[in-house]
Order: sequence, then structure tokens, then C-alpha cells
Amino acid sequence: MKICCIGAGYVGGPTMAMIAHQCSDIDVYVVDINEERIAAWNSDELPIFEPGLQDVVEANRGKNLFFSTAVDDHIRDADMIFISVNTPTKVYGVGKGRAADLKYVELCARRIAEVAVGHKIIVEKSTLPVRTAETIKRILANSPHEATFDVLSNPEFLAEGTAVEDLEAPDRVLIGGESKDSIQKLVDVYANWVDRDRILTTNLWSSELSKLAANAFLAQRISSINAMSALCEATQADVDEVAHAIGQDSRIGPKFLKSSVGFGGSCFQKDILNLVYLCEFYGLKEVAEYWEQVVKMNDYQKERFARNMIRTMFNTVSGKRIAIWGWAFKKDTNDTRESAAIYVCRDLLIEQATLAIYDPKVSAKQIKQDLEYVFKQENGEVSERDKNLIENNIIICDSAFEAATQAHSVAVMTEWDEFKDIEPADLYDIVFKPAFLFDGRNLLDHKAYIKQGFEVYAIGKGLLEG
Ligand code: NAD
Ligand code: UDX
Repeated sequence: MKICCIGAGYVGGPTMAMIAHQCSDIDVYVVDINEERIAAWNSDELPIFEPGLQDVVEANRGKNLFFSTAVDDHIRDADMIFISVNTPTKVYGVGKGRAADLKYVELCARRIAEVAVGHKIIVEKSTLPVRTAETIKRILANSPHEATFDVLSNPEFLAEGTAVEDLEAPDRVLIGGESKDSIQKLVDVYANWVDRDRILTTNLWSSELSKLAANAFLAQRISSINAMSALCEATQADVDEVAHAIGQDSRIGPKFLKSSVGFGGSCFQKDILNLVYLCEFYGLKEVAEYWEQVVKMNDYQKERFARNMIRTMFNTVSGKRIAIWGWAFKKDTNDTRESAAIYVCRDLLIEQATLAIYDPKVSAKQIKQDLEYVFKQENGEVSERDKNLIENNIIICDSAFEAATQAHSVAVMTEWDEFKDIEPADLYDIVFKPAFLFDGRNLLDHKAYIKQGFEVYAIGKGLLEG
């Protein structure tokens, strides 16, 4: 069997590497139009950082796992074609800021229709609005070579930072479709390493919608605990204690209750906005408003954090150096999409702070690109003033220590383990006094920092005392 996956990104790369790893009798070709990305997949430095991924790729690359830009050739040769391209939020036209931009998916469907011969199983791996399979089928129906197609939905539930373990032992694999035969072929692929009772089969629309629903429920839990964190700060309750207490209820459960500076990542916000748009499209205004609140609460959490920093630092951060620890949207990934750090830093830059930023996996180029993106005006341009702000007020550092040297405060944005190894006494020596620590992840040992002389502000903790 030959599989072709269109899109060599955070999903296409790891999922296909795992299929190749688990199924030695399947040849897997991952194709992309981005030459640089494909070259990186073929090099020693993969384009994405994921613990354990390098080993899986290196064990199979060149045997039954291939990365290539020859999109048409591999579409033609494949029995099964996964579509794993990006589906970002639309930034133009109807549905701007909410609807998923399906242009890349549609381009794939058109390419497949154009070059495919014989019979192909098309698998939607990208996260898509419910009923997208209908559009794909209509496009495929126009194949000039009279190729035939079955369309399946097989959304991906991996989380970044734990992609390899999530793929190796998924909670479930979901396959939606109409053709029993095609569903069975995809079930057989996963059954090479996933217990059969964890492979769920549904109709197409349930599968498409379940992906959006899963992300909405997960993000809702974070917004719920973050809403509680604001109330904790006002009442001297401790959000971690509250999370622990409610999580002990087996109906609620302990996972995904870690209060933070706000959720980031390429999925949660995009998929909820997509869900909101769909609800509005179907005239379900109240349902749309219900889910939109999850995103609004997340924005509030990020804004609240930046505001609190400014207020604590005597209402002015202008000219002050602030160490920003972490830029990725969570630990163990180099992905920065929608990272809370970007928005907090934008707010601090507007107040003319100087930001000394350190992240162990994110490049300086990426950090600047992210900031330019959030300073874009309606016309898509960054004003000269904001360009100068980014140029002059950002210092990219090689270590957490370097960032903190002669800083007026330290802000933890990503929960990288290495930040926990820093000795409060060593940090205290190199920062200006009063020494402020803002922990956006409730990561550090607050008592030890307070004992050392720091003023510590953490999420959902009220006034912290030694
Ligand atoms: P990504 O941006 O990392 O990768 C997408 C890739 O598709 C890019 O390399 C791009 O060049 C390529 N591409 C776009 N159009 C193409 C075309 N016409 N032909 C060939 N290649 C093309 O995106 P991602 O994070 O891998 O996400 C892909 C999909 O999976 C999205 O729908 C996303 O919502 C979903 N998803 C992502 C995650 C995650 O953790 N990132 C998890 C589950 C689901
Ligand atoms: C998410 C879903 O978990 C995954 O199933 C889906 O396939 C893609 O979207 P991802 O965004 O990669 O995965 O990471 P996730 O672990 O869900 O974290 C998302 C954001 O929420 C991160 O910014 C993380 O720091 C934050 N988060 C997570 C919290 O603030 N608190 C928590 O308790 C959990």
C-alpha cells in the first residue's frame, strides 16, 4: 500500500512518521509545496521540535518514509491520500476573523482531481468545518481521468510537545465515512498498533464535528479555571488548590485544569472561532455566543496579566527591562502560534518596555516575525513607529540568566523545565530591586522566591507572602 500525505507540518510530519514506523509494509510519502520545509525533513535538523520525533524519523526515513516536493507524482501513485494542510482563520472577506480559510484544502482537492487515476481513498486529516467533505467530493467529482474517490474524515488529536507519545498510544482514533470498505482499509492501518476498541467509526459529519467539539471542550476547561483565577486573586483563594479540589471529583477529573496566562497554539482559538462561525451560519446565535465567550475569557486573561505587570511596576514600564522567559505556546515545542507571550509582550511594548526575551527552542527571527504580525494595521503594514519599537526595544537572549541580568522584573510565559532549575538567590543578585517575579504558569517555587526577597505575582494566587 502507498500513502501520500499532502502537508508536511506539525501534523503531517509526525503522524506519517508514526504510520511508517508502525507499518513496515506501507510506503509513506509526505509532500509539501514548501521546499525549505521538505529539505529540513530530509536533513538532521527537522523543521519542528517534538521530543522523540527525530528518532522515529531517522529510523524510517529512506526506508518506507519519504519527504518530497513532487506532489503530483505521489498523488498519482498513492492508494490513500491524507490532506493535512493548514486551515487558518480567514483574514479577509466574508467570515474574516472567524471562519476557517479552506483555500489550501480546496487547492489540494483540485490537485487530486486533476492528476489522480484509478480509485483513491481521500482522508481529511486537517481540522475542518463540519460538511467540508461534501465540498471535497464535489470537486473530486470533476476528475478528467474519471478517477473515483471515497472521502473519509480522520481528525488528529495529538497535542504538540507530546505528539509522539500521543500518536503511539492515542486515547482514540476517529474515522468517519460512508464506504465500509474504505473505512476498513484505514482501520487496518491503525490496527497495526492501536487496540481495535480505541478505533471509533462514525458517519462523516460526526467525525468532522467531533474534532471541533473536542477542542472547544478542552479550551473551555482552561477558560473556566482561568475565570476562577481572577476570582481567586480577589478573594485570597488559591487557584491550584481549587483546581485540585474540584479535579478530585471523578465527574470533573484532574486534567486540563492548570490555570495560566492563557491558552495558545494553532488550534484552540481557531477551531472555536470556526465553531462560532458555523453556529451563526446555521442561525444558532445563542450557541455561537456561548462558545465565543471561551475565547473572550482567554483574551481577558492575557490582557489582565500584562495590566497587572504594569500596575505592579508602579504604573510605568517605559524604559524598564523585563525578562521574558519563554515564547513558545507551551513547553517542548518550537511552535509559537497564538502564544500568550506574543500578546502580553505587545501590550508591554506599547508601554515602551524593553523586553529581554529567551526561549530555548524559538529563533530570534520567529520572535520578531510574531511581534510584527500583531502590530500589523488594517492595511497589513506595520507602521514605522512600531517597526522601530520592535527593533529597538527587543533583545533576544541566549539564556534565562542573560535575559534577567539588570532586569526590573522577570515574567514566566512558557513552562520550560529549565526555569525551575534556577536558584532564586542567583537570580536575585542580578536583577534590580525591588525584584518582581510574574509567574504566568505557576511554575516556580514561589515560597523560595519570596524568601529570597522577590515580590511574586502568580496566576490565581492573590497576595503572596512568605
Ligand atoms: P502547518 O502549517 O504546520 O502545516 C501545513 C503544511 O501544509 C505547510 O507545510 C504548507 O506548506 C502545506 N501546504 C499548504 N497548502 C498546500 C498544498 N496545496 N500542497 C502541498 N502542501 C501544502 O499546519 P499543522 O499544524 O500541521 O496543521 C494542519 C492541520 O491539522 C490543520 O487543519 C490543523 O488545524 C490540524 N491540527 C493541528 C494540530 C497541531 O497540533 N498543530 C493538531 C490537530 C489538528
Ligand atoms: C490541542 C489539543 O489538546 C489537541 O488534542 C489537538 O489535537 C490540538 O490542540 P495543543 O494546542 O498542541 O493541542 O496543546 P495543548 O496541550 O492542548 O495546550 C494548548 C494550550 O493550552 C497551551 O498554551 C497550554 O499551555 C494551555 N493549557 C493547557 C493551559 O493553560 N492549561 C491546561 O491545563 C492545559
